[in-house]
Amino acid sequence: MNILGIETSCDETAAAVVVDGRLVRSNVISSQIELHRAHGGVVPELAARGQVTAIMPVVRAAIAEAGMTQDDIDAVAFTQGPGLAGSLLVGVNAAKAYAYALGRPTLPVNHLEGHVYANWLQLDANQPFTPPAFPAVCLLVSGGHTEILLLHDHHHYELLGDTLDDAAGEAFDKGARLLGLGYPGGPAIQRAAVGGDPAAFDLPRARLGDSFDFSFSGLKTALLRVAQDYRLPDPTPKPTGAIFPEHRPPRYRDDLPLADLAASFEEAIVDVLATKTARAAEAHGARSVLIAGGVAANRRLRERLAERVGGRTDVRWPDLSLCTDNAAMVAGRAWQVAQEHGWGDLATDAFPRLPIGVDREPVAS
Ligand code: KG4
Ligand code: ZN
Repeated sequence: MNILGIETSCDETAAAVVVDGRLVRSNVISSQIELHRAHGGVVPELAARGQVTAIMPVVRAAIAEAGMTQDDIDAVAFTQGPGLAGSLLVGVNAAKAYAYALGRPTLPVNHLEGHVYANWLQLDANQPFTPPAFPAVCLLVSGGHTEILLLHDHHHYELLGDTLDDAAGEAFDKGARLLGLGYPGGPAIQRAAVGGDPAAFDLPRARLGDSFDFSFSGLKTALLRVAQDYRLPDPTPKPTGAIFPEHRPPRYRDDLPLADLAASFEEAIVDVLATKTARAAEAHGARSVLIAGGVAANRRLRERLAERVGGRTDVRWPDLSLCTDNAAMVAGRAWQVAQEHGWGDLATDAFPRLPIGVDREPVAS
């Protein structure tokens, strides 16, 4: 079954074709990073407008790169939430229009479940692939979410821990912004940390007792306190009155120990994430441990988690191309959900605050 996936939850416009919930035949992503960089983060209205212009060429490219025509598409899956309302609506409506025109069913997908499902996707049919075993513990770390999930199977997720304030990706983004490293922050911090000493600064880790919850706001404040000793005054006052204000990165003296600070900041985030995930895996007898979401792209997180879990438990993460927002994960997850609940129809909407693992009512096929 060839499923066309559409993902427009934030600032990436993505479309993909996935066969039988497993094999990725195409994975096209159009990023708006340049559009938002000048503002230091995503501006929702600009993101929605960017989705409108990108969606049709991206869908066409995904079908063509899969070596197919639109007649080969059997169903259209799309991200229903969570995400930015204006951005989501573009994908929801594009998917409905395609499904209607082609006479094919649709299936709404939870973006977070899509991230988790990226661990079940295969890029190369010739490489051996064994699906992760259940029960699995999954660390879901994106720009908006930081959760530890216990997966009993594909349809029953238990929330073991959550963030009390910032998400891990958000902490990376805010830390990078504060250090003047630009957007998106995760890759920028990872680059700046190369050659730095992760033990140079003793930044705080919120352990929160035995819980599997997280808190990153104290870490951000600690980083700010160290960095501000090196900060130079802003040269000119900021212009006022712009509808989408320009972001002026802070400026620092040349002796700012950037690599050490970035490495210590990255280590503080990654250390807590890996330690708690490994503890959750042990407590629940997980047969596999997974990372999902944009922060799963972080090299240090992968290393640390593999170290902490070790032993006979299978630790894995998606290919880099499937960690940050993409539509292959949406098409894959749709197939999995359809096995249990059937396909959807055209009477569907976007849900910007859709939670993960909500009980689903079976929908008519
Ligand atoms: O999953 P995603 O693409 O979008 C959301 O659903 O939020 O995640 C984006 C987040 C951003 O906060 C970005 O800074 C972070 O993932 N990220 C990383 C890395 N690559 C992306 N964080 C740490 N290290 C990376 N290499
Ligand atoms: Zn995401």
